[in-house]
Formats: sequence, C-alpha cells, structure tokens
Amino acid sequence: MRNIYLCGFMGCGKSFMGQKLSEKLGCTLVDLDAYIEEKEGMTIPEIFEKFGEPHFRRLEEKYIREMPINSIVATGGGAVINPVTAETARNTGNVVFLDADFELCYSRIKGDTHRPLVMKNTKEQLKELFDKRREIYLKHSDFSVNSNLSETEILDMILEGIK
Ligand code: S3P
Repeated sequence: MRNIYLCGFMGCGKSFMGQKLSEKLGCTLVDLDAYIEEKEGMTIPEIFEKFGEPHFRRLEEKYIREMPINSIVATGGGAVINPVTAETARNTGNVVFLDADFELCYSRIKGDTHRPLVMKNTKEQLKELFDKRREIYLKHSDFSVNSNLSETEILDMILEGIK
C-alpha cells in the first residue's frame, strides 16, 4: 500500500481520521507533528518560539522523508503548503485533503495553547489563512473529502478514493 497523507487546516480531523483509518486498514499511524517533537526533543510551540516558523517548515520538509512505508501520516496543517513537502508526500503516497468548514475547524482549535498560529492570530486572520490555504490544499492533494460529514462517511470516501 502507498502511504496515505492526510492534509488540511488545523482542526479538520487529520489525527482523528488518521486513527480511524489506521484501525480499519491495520497499518501504522504516524503523526508528523509528534514525530518532529520527538526527533527534536522540543514541543512545537518551543520550536516556533526559539527558531521561528520557517525553521519548522524545514523540519517538516526533512522529516516527511522519514515516514515509514505502508503508513497513514497525519500531517500538520501547514506541511503540504510547502511544495517540497507536498512533492515528497505525493511521490510516496496519496495526499488526501480533509475539507472541513472554517467554523467547524475553528470551534475545535480556538484557545489551543499548543498551536502557535492559533495563539498569535485572531479569528479573522485565521479565516484569511484558511481561505488562502484551501486553494493550495486543493492543488497539492490527489483528492479531497468533505469533512463536515460523519466519521463513517469520511472514512468510506477516503477508502473509495484510494482504490
Ligand atoms: C500548523 C498546524 C499544526 C502544527 C503547527 C503549525 C499550521 O498541526 O503543525 O502548529 O501551520 O497549520 P495541526 O494541523 O495538527 O494542528
């Protein structure tokens, strides 16, 4: 099986659906954010604070090349915005965009102190980022799935898409 890379805005359900997919397909789930934190021995807020966002983007670019084969990868919300990271993902698997509405994403991420972009941006700024990124997720993914639907529906659509 080629890898499945789940992408989309913060709060769209990448980690949650990744867990469901890995249970269903019986393969490993790798959370790219958690992988980076482990490799670097720092949390994401610490990386952002100490080295800045561009450095974090380079870490994503580097570590996505280490994803094991036959796995589901839950990427961070900005990972596939970087064309180099997106290309690595597309060369080794299917990139699936979990397309959820901004309000749904926002209701899940608001006030989250583990997400530096949520801490430093207003709701309006996040909505702007969401709109800008949505075009790029569409461009950099193999297919998208309406992620406002139920867990079962989303799962079925992903499984259909990777056939
Ligand atoms: C980010 C999303 C986060 C994490 C980092 C930056 C982004 O992952 O990678 O805080 O730029 O959208 P989640 O999408 O899992 O929250």
